[in-house]
Amino acid sequence: MNVVKIGLLGLGNVGCGTWLTLTTNSSSIVARAGVKLEVAGIAVRDLNKRRLASPPAELLTTDALSLIDDPSIPIIVETIGCPHQDTRIARDFMLRALAAGKHVVTANKEVLAKHGRELRAAVGASGGLYYEGAVAGGIPVVKVFRESLAGNTVTSIMGIINGTTNYILTRMSHEGSPFGDVLRAAQELGYAEQDPSSDVDGHDAAYKLALLCSMAIGAEVNVEDIFREGISGITPEDLHYAAELGYTVKLLAIARRDGGSVELRVHPTMIPSSHPLASVGGAFNAVFIQGDAVGDLMLYGMGAGMMPTGSAVVADCIDAAINVARGVSPVPDRREQRCTLKPMDDVVSCYYVRVQVVDEPGVMAALASEFGRAGVSIESLIQKGRGQDPVSVVFVTHAARERSVQEALRGVRALDVVHSVASVIRVVAG
Ligand code: NDP
Ligand code: HSE
Repeated sequence: MNVVKIGLLGLGNVGCGTWLTLTTNSSSIVARAGVKLEVAGIAVRDLNKRRLASPPAELLTTDALSLIDDPSIPIIVETIGCPHQDTRIARDFMLRALAAGKHVVTANKEVLAKHGRELRAAVGASGGLYYEGAVAGGIPVVKVFRESLAGNTVTSIMGIINGTTNYILTRMSHEGSPFGDVLRAAQELGYAEQDPSSDVDGHDAAYKLALLCSMAIGAEVNVEDIFREGISGITPEDLHYAAELGYTVKLLAIARRDGGSVELRVHPTMIPSSHPLASVGGAFNAVFIQGDAVGDLMLYGMGAGMMPTGSAVVADCIDAAINVARGVSPVPDRREQRCTLKPMDDVVSCYYVRVQVVDEPGVMAALASEFGRAGVSIESLIQKGRGQDPVSVVFVTHAARERSVQEALRGVRALDVVHSVASVIRVVAG
């Protein structure tokens, strides 16, 4: 039996999930791979920390380079993430391993989104770069785009690709739980990033969207150019109105081809409660794909957490081990081109707008007139409660350009009777 050694960097959530999957399923992995995968060493920062898995103590080291530089270890699995919000350590470890001709497996979407081009260029003739765990946790997304949908032109993707925010929004909607409490629970469950603002502010979803765009559309983008809004402005009141209007609020990552340009955005979105994505709850993720040949397709599964991500990382380890045993490299990612991003101002959507106003006659007409002046037509309007100050008024618009809606909102904010524009949420029409 051929033995292929693995150097595991990190033994946190994903590292433990990887270790547990490799050890629990070792015999079926041998049967499938035709080789035995052996963890030769595990790099950590703190040798004495209590962990969710207990590999033999002699495997642990604080010297990651001793694994990366060991010529008998052909596969390096990076699960250290970005300690102190710094991508350099993981990037440097991966570059060093790739320069030595190794196969590198990672679930680090931030490093891939920020340094993917450099990493791909560093893949040696005998090595490879694998990242199934980087997008949507346990859902096999990378292989689906690379292999199963290779014959399609993918025209659009709408994804719930951050487990933490989906978990938070689900519990806020269903149980009325406060944001802070649910975020803490997501951290305890191992879903959140080391800096959870990466989840809450939509950065994590934007990294994954950049990867999806490169895999599905063949276009490379600067992640900073992706329009991004997080979920921290979503209030229980908005979730309540959304339900009343027949919608569910999700943090969606959207990629859509439009002629020669591509629309890329991450923001909270109201989707009809009958849409397949609306029922994706908790830390589950789903990617809703439209391809010219396949039509509509939805991939669904756990998007975060130790074991689901371990499952994806181990799948990559098996691929890498088979390649090592055969002495071959994986087919390189297809050549990428820069794409033209559609400016957000030109994006067309329906909008939910909640305005805090003085409750007096003529207010509705004044608000409606600002929307009308900007050419934005209103589909529905709700005002609840009387005699409070301020009172909420909710509009849902017909499809309109972002630029026009922002113009209408400037007019609305300037009205004397308006306290504030409390929320603006884009809506996927039913
Ligand atoms: P954790 O913080 O749980 O684990 C990080 C691990 O890396 C820890 O074991 C830490 O050691 C170790 N580490 C950090 N710096 C070093 C270093 N310089 N040398 C050696 N070891 C080091 O992170 P996660 O497992 O949650 O995430 C890891 C990566 O996987 C991230 O890129 C994340 O975005 C990604 N990911 C996470 C998912 C999840 O559900 N959590 C899902 C999909 C992807 P020590 O324990 O001693 O401090
Ligand atoms: N923090 C990420 C999430 C982990 O919540 O989706 C999975 O990438």
